[in-house]
Amino acid sequence: MAKTHVTIRVNGEEVEGLVEPRTLLIHFIRENLNLTGAHIGCETSHCGACTVDINGKSVKSCTMFAVQANGAEIMTIEGVANADGTLSALQEGFRQMHGLQCGYCTPGMIVRAHRLLQENPNPTEEEIRFGIAGNLCRCTGYQNIVKAIQYAAAKINGTEFQEAAE
Ligand code: FES
Ligand code: FES
Repeated sequence: MAKTHVTIRVNGEEVEGLVEPRTLLIHFIRENLNLTGAHIGCETSHCGACTVDINGKSVKSCTMFAVQANGAEIMTIEGVANADGTLSALQEGFRQMHGLQCGYCTPGMIVRAHRLLQENPNPTEEEIRFGIAGNLCRCTGYQNIVKAIQYAAAKINGTEFQEAAE
């Protein structure tokens, strides 16, 4: 099949590739760019393990073709850490609050949470739960993911994180 040339900015760097029109963005990211943090957990666009940030939006990269991302600006989990290599507030929050177990949903979850906190820097618990409703997790039961996002929001806002009594 004829291939199309695409140029995409990924984690701040311009990358190029030749892709078939049918190539899913998640496969381009994983197989051409070797950015294997984003995962595939379904074939029905439910799980969100493939979530990346595209032009300021959370997008499930399994439900977009790589050619559609031509000219876009993409951030994957590999681009989330701070410039000096330290963990971002969200990554730290997931670690501190035990917001991951197997880690398979985590890249998508963190990239989604990153965008959620841009959309709503001070979300309520309900807003967090709704805000990550496109991301499924088999391991955590979500409770600690909510805490991780609250931890990160507090850190970013410079406020004190208070764990709610259970
Ligand atoms: S792999 Fe499940 S939504 Fe993309
Ligand atoms: S940590 Fe295993 S699926 Fe979420």
